[in-house]
Amino acid sequence: MKVISSIIELRDQLRGQNRVAFVPTMGNLHKGHLSLIRLARQHGHPVVTSIFVNRLQFGPNEDFDKYPRSLDSDIDKLQQENVYILFAPTEQDIYPHPQEYYIHPPHHLGDILEGEFRLGFFRSVCTVVMKLISCVQPRIVVFGKKDYQQLIIVRQMCEQFALPVEIIAAETERDIDGLALSSRNMYLIPSERVEAPNLYYTLQRIRDSILSGNRNFSKIKLEALDTLTKRGWKPDYITLRKRANLHAIQPQEWHKPLVVLAAARLGATRLLDNLEI
Ligand code: PAF
Repeated sequence: MKVISSIIELRDQLRGQNRVAFVPTMGNLHKGHLSLIRLARQHGHPVVTSIFVNRLQFGPNEDFDKYPRSLDSDIDKLQQENVYILFAPTEQDIYPHPQEYYIHPPHHLGDILEGEFRLGFFRSVCTVVMKLISCVQPRIVVFGKKDYQQLIIVRQMCEQFALPVEIIAAETERDIDGLALSSRNMYLIPSERVEAPNLYYTLQRIRDSILSGNRNFSKIKLEALDTLTKRGWKPDYITLRKRANLHAIQPQEWHKPLVVLAAARLGATRLLDNLEI
């Protein structure tokens, strides 16, 4: 595997490749990332991964400085997955000048849910993803369903800019007890780690209730928020949305593909999860 930081060298290495499958990451790779890489391999060749902790997408009180960085062990894992190139640019490579051009997702997608709690987050994600796509020039890009809103926003961005890429969605990888894998799980202290899968169990109960015909989502949601709060969580949201655009559902739309999404704090760690219905 070649580890490349310069955009010019990356383009040199990839010249003539027109089926590149790309997996952008912020590193600290776990089984979830590796499943994205395996999915990428099924859809294109060669596989390119990037590791770049994008300062722009961290709020002033977020964890940019302490975000786990583990380049050496990440390289080992990527080598075992036969990744062709790891693109690991520095901040100077990606932002040689202060970034003055941004991609703003529309308000109805970018400023809801995560966007409401992390102001400007999707503007920064879209901007760096656009830039990474421009560097790698892939045919396929794989994103995990774990960050469902990111997946939907990036997919629509690529469609609206007619980028010649296909966005492939990978299922969420979970620990044996159901906790969705995330680099931030390592912040959980042992007692919180035991409690953490309850976010997923809550989503499962909501899904089961809806599938059994319960249409009173306000009541379902209040019960779920109450249960989580009593267990020590601080929920930011639990919401039911249409999968295609994350809009709220109208009474006649219960037959559409839906997704229930949640974000909640457990101690100092903010966890996200979702479940398609
Ligand atoms: O999901 C992530 O790891 C990041 O948001 C991404 C897509 C690599 C952009 O920095």
